[in-house]
Amino acid sequence: MSALSDLEIVAQSISFIFAGYETTSNTLSYIMYTLATHPDAQKKLQQEIDAILPNKAPATYNDLEKIEYLDMVINETLRLYPIGARISRLSKKDAEISGVFIPQNTEVAVPIFLLHRDPKYWPEPEKFCPERFSKENKDRINPYVYMPFGNGPRNCLGMRFALITMKLAVVKIFQNFSVQPCEETEIPLKLSKKLILSPEKPIVLKATSRDGAINEG
Ligand code: HEM
Repeated sequence: MSALSDLEIVAQSISFIFAGYETTSNTLSYIMYTLATHPDAQKKLQQEIDAILPNKAPATYNDLEKIEYLDMVINETLRLYPIGARISRLSKKDAEISGVFIPQNTEVAVPIFLLHRDPKYWPEPEKFCPERFSKENKDRINPYVYMPFGNGPRNCLGMRFALITMKLAVVKIFQNFSVQPCEETEIPLKLSKKLILSPEKPIVLKATSRDGAINEG
């Protein structure tokens, strides 16, 4: 196997930046929004972070694994706000699936956003409920219904990296701050029809230092 050329290395780096930057930052904004609008969940998360990392200790990889509620909050946020709202595949050959004929070379779209909010699979789908992803419940989730990172051999290459960086950021933020909605916060959130699921307007929240100082914006 030959090594990558300089041009290929640049091309790969650019695609990682495009695929990895706004996806992660938008999801982080949605996590902040869901926690600001669900103070009980925020409190529970802070309690769990403080129990596993006393005195704002920096998190290691193993610590992040232990904060189960963090994983549940992120999964539930990705269910409600999957930045890849729709993915697609090109059919390689003629096929019939559930009585529907799909000719070769047809682009088939997978409506992830709709699947994630389908009441057939999710009771009260509009409700933010991290318990759907608890240890007891998560094995019952169909991987072809919940797919914030896509599925199959061409699913998201950066999934593990994205999850770990988001967890690190969320832990650091909630060790130091609490967030609340303010006058400018749009509730419910209006979403735009961009390629990457984005809020119509920037999400504005009020951040309060857990040590007492206040900072808005
Ligand atoms: C919260 C963060 C992220 C989400 C929700 C996300 C979601 C997705 C989704 C839905 C796809 C399409 C998968 C499919 O068609 O089955 C995808 C593809 C991809 N993602 Fe991500 N992504 C995130 C972060 C990242 C990061 C951080 C990187 C790189 C460092 C990355 C790199 C890629 C690449 C290279 C692909 C194309 C894979 C291929 O076509 O083989 N993503 N991502």
